[in-house]
Amino acid sequence: MTYARIIGTGSYLPAKVVTNDDLAESMETSDEWIRERTGIHRRHVASDDETTATIGLYAAQNAIEAAGIEVDEIDLILVATTTPDKVFPATATIIQRRLGIAGCGAFDLQAACSGFVYGLDVADRYIRSGGARTAVVIGAETLSRITNWEDRTTAVLFGDGAGAVVLQASEEPGIVAAHIHADGKQEELLHVPQGISQGYDQTRAGEAYIQMNGNAVFRKAVATLDSIARETLAGHGVEKEQLDWFVPHQANLRIITAAAKKLGMPMERVVVTVDEHANTSSASIPLALDIAVRDGRIQRGELLLLEAFGAGFTWGSALLYY
Ligand code: ACO
Repeated sequence: MTYARIIGTGSYLPAKVVTNDDLAESMETSDEWIRERTGIHRRHVASDDETTATIGLYAAQNAIEAAGIEVDEIDLILVATTTPDKVFPATATIIQRRLGIAGCGAFDLQAACSGFVYGLDVADRYIRSGGARTAVVIGAETLSRITNWEDRTTAVLFGDGAGAVVLQASEEPGIVAAHIHADGKQEELLHVPQGISQGYDQTRAGEAYIQMNGNAVFRKAVATLDSIARETLAGHGVEKEQLDWFVPHQANLRIITAAAKKLGMPMERVVVTVDEHANTSSASIPLALDIAVRDGRIQRGELLLLEAFGAGFTWGSALLYY
């Protein structure tokens, strides 16, 4: 049986760090409030000359180096992002060019914070069906560009960053299954109201930023993460005790803790990195994965449950042997 197996992980965080205290200098908030309500200590913000393609490229190069492959072995590049460099071409083709390769399929995928899990699902299906042997899946975001830095209800929550994995066809177990879902009925609970196809309307300039009903999103995220975890484990005959690591979307420590509690996962087996980089949307899971691989927490052969929830709403999971 052929599996899509992660053979390398990588990540990149911009050098500029904005602490909670830094934010408190320009808006009515405090380090204490942010830590208590979100678990976030700091976030990284892209410099003026860094874009999603720049930071996505660094994460991809990092993963490719860890995988020990040559770039010309890559035959699929997927970039999950809500903040592409341009309307077109895709950020994936910009990264492809900067990697110095051409010819393989490369496209962007937009599923908000669930984008990386969606990307894993697509790449897994390509690899298992023989359509690709080696795929790079990148989650990269410059959310600072769609954050209203005067709105304390959202500005404290988000950050910039990128993570990536190299997947390769293998006889050794890798991705067991990925599941993706969406329900567009509650679009306005979490969205950026302005968009390309609506036409650029200067009178609505303030709507070019993230808007969110935090309480409603919180409740929905916890309930959905719990149901997808149960669905995934039951669907594959896996007991939660068999999981070595739970790697959730890093939105907010309270959401992660509540989801882990409902699932009955002790926090020692939950990867938490949101304190270091805040919510980086589609980059958050590959970032958390790479950090835990590099610091030695996640070991080869261990069983991982990845879970995401985001705007749309979209949600998804991946059960995999690392
Ligand atoms: N600093 C200080 N006070 C603040 C801040 C801030 N940054 N933001 C809001 N407040 C105030 C509010 O104005 C309110 O004041 P009031 O009582 O005088 O009206 C008070 O704090 C409480 O506000 P709530 O919104 O009720 O606070 P809550 O405990 O719900 O926390 C939060 C807000 C952190 C946004 C929470 O709802 C949450 O985590 N929601 C999930 C949203 C999320 O993570 N979204 C990310 C995108 S979706 C995803 O990735 C899953």
